[in-house]
Amino acid sequence: MDDRQIVATRASKITLTCDGSSRTVELYSQEGLELTASLMLKLAAEYRLMYKPTWLGLPIIQLPTDIVMMQELIWKLRPDVIVECGLAHGGAAVLYASICELIGKGRVIGVDIEVREHNRAAIESHPMWKRIEIIEGSSIGPSTVAEIKARVGNAQTVLVVLDSNHSREHVSRELSAYHEMVTPGSYLVTMDGAQANLWDIPRGEREWKDDNPLIAIHDFLREHAEFQVDPHYTRMQVTSSPDGFLRRLTDEEVERR
Ligand SMILES: C[S@@+](CC[C@H](N)C(=O)[O-])C[C@H]1O[C@@H](n2cnc3c(N)ncnc32)[C@H](O)[C@@H]1O
Repeated sequence: MDDRQIVATRASKITLTCDGSSRTVELYSQEGLELTASLMLKLAAEYRLMYKPTWLGLPIIQLPTDIVMMQELIWKLRPDVIVECGLAHGGAAVLYASICELIGKGRVIGVDIEVREHNRAAIESHPMWKRIEIIEGSSIGPSTVAEIKARVGNAQTVLVVLDSNHSREHVSRELSAYHEMVTPGSYLVTMDGAQANLWDIPRGEREWKDDNPLIAIHDFLREHAEFQVDPHYTRMQVTSSPDGFLRRLTDEEVERR
């Protein structure tokens, strides 16, 4: 038998030991699934696995599970405009644009505080460039927000994705600046709430415990009953965006509450 083969039967348990205490759970229980998924996320962040994928040739800083969920969401919503705060290398903008291309409508407005020349060149020479617009500036800068609002115009279905600076303060300001652009029934996807659970990994930072997008999301939800977490898009368990898929209720749903 191959020595590297891992055998794990119905009777298997998994024990996590940390700082002198330990916890044991049945591997195939719900607890076992949650513990394993949460450890997978810590390992993915430690080994920077989210920096490894590309989409149609451009680096995309996402876990494969989250990439699949965004594909599902866009296919279902069929948005006219997708606003992405935090463009980086452009891989996610190309992902969103490529699904729009298959749908036959939709454009992506990508904003980043710094669009490096080689990234801009790669995005502009990509076949999906025809569905992408780039704005360079801080996503919370009043002129940038005004510019995006103007470009969104009165589009029928607007999806917003926040994936730029992941401090609590910045995400709070983005949520407040962008939530009104999200059309009823659409989503305000707020990424990287998992930072709240990554402060303990070797490359993590202790401050993340109290400074992360998840706290900003929960603060926002307390003030905005018209948005609700949709757990459907985090059902793959291994996600960088727990509680990050915020659906804006329709007017009828708000009335019925
Ligand atoms: C995690 S990366 C984005 C990854 C990208 N969305 C993807 O999925 O491939 C974060 C990006 O946010 C940008 N950023 C940081 N602060 C920003 C700000 N205030 N406004 C806009 N972009 C910002 C950074 O320059 C960086 O490119």
